[in-house]
Amino acid sequence: MCGIVGCVADEPVAGILLEGLRRVEYRGYDSAGMATINDGSLKLRKGVGRVDEIEDEQGLSKLKGNIGMAHTRWATHGGVTNENAHPHASCKGLVAVIHNGIIENYVPLKKSLIAKGHRFRSETDTEVIAHLVEDEYKRTRDPTKATIAATKRLKGQYAIALMFQDRPDVIVGARKDAPLIVGVGEGKMFIASDVLAFIGHTDRTIFLDNFEVVEISRDRVKILGPGGKEVKRKPTQVAWELSDLSKSDFAHYTLKEINEQPKTVITASVQEPGKVEQFARAIRRAKSLYITASGTSYHAGLLMKFRLNKEASIRADTVVAGELKEHAGFLRKGSVVVAFSQSGETADVLEAVKGAKSKGAKVYSIVNAAGSTLARESDGVLLLNCGPEVGVAATKSFTAQVVVASMVVDAVLGKKRSNGIKELSEAVAEALKCDEQIRDLVHEYKDRPDFYFVARGYESPVALEGALKLKELSYIHAEGMPASELKHGTLALIEKGTPVVVLNPSGDAHADSLSSAEELKARGAEVIGISDIEDSVYTHFVRLPKVQAKFTPIVEAIPLQLLAYHMAVAKRNDPDYPRNLAKSVTVK
Ligand code: F6R
Repeated sequence: MCGIVGCVADEPVAGILLEGLRRVEYRGYDSAGMATINDGSLKLRKGVGRVDEIEDEQGLSKLKGNIGMAHTRWATHGGVTNENAHPHASCKGLVAVIHNGIIENYVPLKKSLIAKGHRFRSETDTEVIAHLVEDEYKRTRDPTKATIAATKRLKGQYAIALMFQDRPDVIVGARKDAPLIVGVGEGKMFIASDVLAFIGHTDRTIFLDNFEVVEISRDRVKILGPGGKEVKRKPTQVAWELSDLSKSDFAHYTLKEINEQPKTVITASVQEPGKVEQFARAIRRAKSLYITASGTSYHAGLLMKFRLNKEASIRADTVVAGELKEHAGFLRKGSVVVAFSQSGETADVLEAVKGAKSKGAKVYSIVNAAGSTLARESDGVLLLNCGPEVGVAATKSFTAQVVVASMVVDAVLGKKRSNGIKELSEAVAEALKCDEQIRDLVHEYKDRPDFYFVARGYESPVALEGALKLKELSYIHAEGMPASELKHGTLALIEKGTPVVVLNPSGDAHADSLSSAEELKARGAEVIGISDIEDSVYTHFVRLPKVQAKFTPIVEAIPLQLLAYHMAVAKRNDPDYPRNLAKSVTVK
């Protein structure tokens, strides 16, 4: 979703901001823009399309000035047009704003501002902020005081950065329920929606809390708490490095991240001493236990539930984050919510945990982004340690989530340590060798309109994940389901040549899944079997190495991720930036 990057420096900033824009592209966007202040004048350039196209047309990097801010917009209020792209300026260009979030009360605010004589240029909710701050700035002549006064009138979610034409030394930021951080560099200070925006310049980061307002200048950061009192907070060093952001020799980040997974399983398994046990204790003591997440993270959460229910006899429910409030009746003091999120900023997840906490529940999270809102609002955190995931489709973060969740379940089961990580890493490397075979499958199936993914028991969340990946990247209609559900509707959709992926590792459910494959074949389906045991029922067979039962989802996900990736490439879709998707879904 919208990306924010602002910089005050002792050198021209346009190039730095352009680089930052390219780094936040992965969040998902449809238009972008930049503003700088030079010689007492505020200059804005913006447009629709990819950052590089806008740069070619508008010459963003040619903007002069040592202070500036830039934005990638994911349209919510108002169409995808130049006028609606950020930054937005107030009537006389005194104030400029960029924003991530939704201002819920923008309609009455806009009406009252128009009545006072303000002229609006866009259809966005964001523009009201520029006009409100302008009014307050004229009154107070103080950027921070003006921002505090204006934000008091806003309802909804926001992370904003503001510049003031006659104050070329400061950028002011404010946040409520949307991410905003400060990057502390040498001779330059940043404000951004995530670390990747400035990681090439500094890894020293200050995470802001809700209702805080920050003023950055070239060499100073001043944070004010909700009561207007100054808050002292030291920067923390983030572990991500610039090298994590290169594509290496891979054509896309998605392919690079898929191929990183042998390493992912190792790095995810290295946790701070005692932390996994702390999680396990909380789970064992929970009066009621919910696991919550969205998208791919939800699928990892389903896997954890299976193991807790079956192996530990602990009742756990996994609920998509946007629906957790429907279970509020079971959340109380003594309840535990385990939240999974790569970004730690997914709005539905944040709202779910906020609701759970208000009922007295404790929140334990499994996140990739240290310092994210979810991580900071949790009572305990385990990090995925898989480095930045730039491809919009979650791949290595899923693998890391399954590893970390498995370690927690093993600790709940009383195991002193999780075994088999090294063997798992080797098995993942082995599974990646199916790449050539998957390309052949893509060649054969790329024009089929529908795909189905089925599995039983512990594997069934992987069927959901396979369908999600294929939809996201290839735009082919895909459904995943437990094989037992096939008879209850889906078999009616199977025609001659319909591809159905059957995930069928050796184990208790193997024979039943083979029967499902036979049923599908009898109705004309072409069954793609993914397993460690071959069978004549499969039209195509992808062999996977045998791994411990708890890790089968990790090796099974590999061919499914490759299928989605190569399908996207075959259909000339950009796998790193699929249409209509955002990496970090920061609005509800
Ligand atoms: C799927 C995908 C999304 C995310 C979902 C949750 O490939 O990327 O469905 O899984 O938006 O995101 P996080 O894990 O950041 O909360």
